[in-house]
Amino acid sequence: MDLDKLMGKHLTRYFDPSKTIPEETLQQLLKFLRSTPSSTNIQPNHFYVLATDEGKKQLADNLGERFQDNAEKILNSSHTIILTTRADLPESHIDAVFNKERADGRFPDPAKQELWESMTRDFLNLRNYGYKDLNHWMEKQTYMAVGLTMMAAAELGVEATPLEGFDPASVDKAFKIRETGHATTVLLALGYPDPKKQYSNPISRFDADELFTFV
Ligand SMILES: Cc1cc2nc3c(=O)[nH]c(=O)nc-3n(C[C@H](O)[C@H](O)[C@H](O)COP(=O)(O)O)c2cc1C
Repeated sequence: MDLDKLMGKHLTRYFDPSKTIPEETLQQLLKFLRSTPSSTNIQPNHFYVLATDEGKKQLADNLGERFQDNAEKILNSSHTIILTTRADLPESHIDAVFNKERADGRFPDPAKQELWESMTRDFLNLRNYGYKDLNHWMEKQTYMAVGLTMMAAAELGVEATPLEGFDPASVDKAFKIRETGHATTVLLALGYPDPKKQYSNPISRFDADELFTFV
């Protein structure tokens, strides 16, 4: 990965509609997305991978009135992913996580798995009843997944642009997402930039002395 290049580049706003991510590369990226970590291994996500023109159009048509400028980005992307997050945390989901951890042999010692499960439940109770931020906390996990996947895409030579410009109620309705107990958090458009429309002007970020405090 060329970090120097990455540090100087704008996120892609103009994708080349004629270019498609090769299947093998896509599968590698999705494998990576599946592997991204989450706090307490809660895995609160479901991902809709829009790989067809119809799928992308369905999203582009349902971004909501004020977010039309994102439609072209989605339509011209090779693939766009809708990253959704659980709206709440039913017991069935917690059980599913623990059962999968047991099946995968995460803790070969059953006593350690049990300890882990009780610590996880304590932490979830704290988020739910103490900090009262369970959904917000789960969405933070989604943002980590999107950030890490942007880096993985760069490693694979794929451009990845996160999009927050959409009406979640409208997108959820179009894909019947709320019926599954999830809601849309963020979108990730993937593809290759249109070389005729690439920005060459510098990126703008605060200077280092405003950002870093060394103690
Ligand atoms: C989480 C996130 C959401 C974003 N949503 C949008 C979006 O909906 N539409 C868009 O055109 N750009 C979007 N961007 C791009 C930012 O506006 C852009 O990265 C920022 O203005 C800096 O510009 P640069 O990448 O050209 O340096 C988003 C970026 C991030 C990190």
